Amino acid sequence: MHPYSLKSSKGAPFPPRLILVFLIAIFGFYVCYISFNQITLEYRSEENSGEVQAEIHCRKPRLPHEELRYVHFPKPESYSRGECSCNPVRFFVLVSMQRSGSGWFETLLNSHPNISSNGEIFNRVDRRENISSILQTLDKLYNLDWFTSAAKNECTAAFGLKWMLNQGFMDHHDDIASYFNKKGVSVIFLFRRNTLRRLISVLANDYDRDAKQLNGTHKSHVHSKEEAEILAKFKPVLDVSNLIPNIRNAEKYIRDCLDHFNTTRHMILYYEDIVRNRNALFQVQEFLGVPVRKLVSRQVKIHTSPLPGLVSNWDDVSNKLNGTQYAHFLDGADYVR
Ligand SMILES: *[C@@H]1O[C@H](CO)[C@@H](O)[C@H](O)[C@H]1NC(C)=O
Ligand SMILES: *[C@@H]1O[C@H](CO)[C@@H](O)[C@H](O)[C@H]1NC(C)=O
Ligand SMILES: *[C@@H]1O[C@H](CO)[C@@H](O)[C@H](O)[C@H]1NC(C)=O
Ligand SMILES: *[C@@H]1O[C@H](CO)[C@@H](O)[C@H](O)[C@H]1NC(C)=O
Ligand SMILES: *[C@@H]1O[C@H](CO)[C@@H](O)[C@H](O)[C@H]1NC(C)=O
Repeated sequence: MHPYSLKSSKGAPFPPRLILVFLIAIFGFYVCYISFNQITLEYRSEENSGEVQAEIHCRKPRLPHEELRYVHFPKPESYSRGECSCNPVRFFVLVSMQRSGSGWFETLLNSHPNISSNGEIFNRVDRRENISSILQTLDKLYNLDWFTSAAKNECTAAFGLKWMLNQGFMDHHDDIASYFNKKGVSVIFLFRRNTLRRLISVLANDYDRDAKQLNGTHKSHVHSKEEAEILAKFKPVLDVSNLIPNIRNAEKYIRDCLDHFNTTRHMILYYEDIVRNRNALFQVQEFLGVPVRKLVSRQVKIHTSPLPGLVSNWDDVSNKLNGTQYAHFLDGADYVR
């Protein structure tokens, strides 16, 4: 008798034909199970946006579960992400106020090969006219279909914009905060602790807008010490009677903002801390999920001397704030001595 003949297993616990039928049945179930799963997968990716489809094909990065909704695999309509189409991208927004170092900070971010920060997109009124134009603009931006000089290449890993509080951001805070949470946008708040210095910078910048001190052009940011010195020569007169209410309002504005957006994934930075300790920039890069490196900017700080030399009516200002809760602003340095 042939040793492998089925008949040879006579006396085995199960008849061989039964085992064969059983195996075939198992295999059948397995095939059905696989194809059923594929059908549901295809069905899901047709129903949802391109982003979900990409997520199925790209391997999810190893991150804690609650972090996963902040990484994305966008599919721009206007170009292909090529070799980096499966590199995860974080969407971010840099939220700040005028003259708080956000222009400088943005050039630092953009010195990183994997970060694109696309400037003050909402400085155009038509983009912030109502909440629908705001959300439409954000959708387009976060699909990476947005071209500025900061737009890098297909290997961008963090993509965002700079947004000032007075550019519709506070007017529509509820809708914007829930958009950030739904869309998975990370928020970087950048504020300046010394409101008095910020005020001086605002006044000096307003003055230069008309005076155009640098050979007839207005510059909010400069790239050389010589230019900085020319701009710093102008000493504004502060409105002393409104000084304390102004400082108080500015601080309340910041507090309200942080309250409204505290459900978002965010980090809070202060200009003074970055100036003194560049390690703060490493935390920013970790927050944005990009490889950490040294960031550089060609911008030069304009006001780099003690406050008394920057204001025309310094004695009035000093008297007004001396003894108040804002007295510490008087000798606050925000430059490296
Ligand atoms: C919102 O603003 C846009 C752009 O200015 C305008 O076209 C649109 O009609 C406005 N929508 C609503 C609902 O007001
Ligand atoms: C950063 O960009 C480089 C090339 O520009 C790319 O090779 C690299 O994968 C990118 N890193 C991330 C984290 O996307
Ligand atoms: C202004 O123009 C003069 C002559 O063209 C040039 O030498 C000088 O550097 C310029 N100054 C600034 C601040 O750009
Ligand atoms: C949000 O604000 C409340 C009250 O100010 C605070 O208790 C809470 O810790 C904040 N939540 C986050 C996530 O920061
Ligand atoms: C603040 O006021 C006190 C007394 O009221 C005075 O001794 C001190 O010199 C003042 N400080 C400044 C910086 O003017």
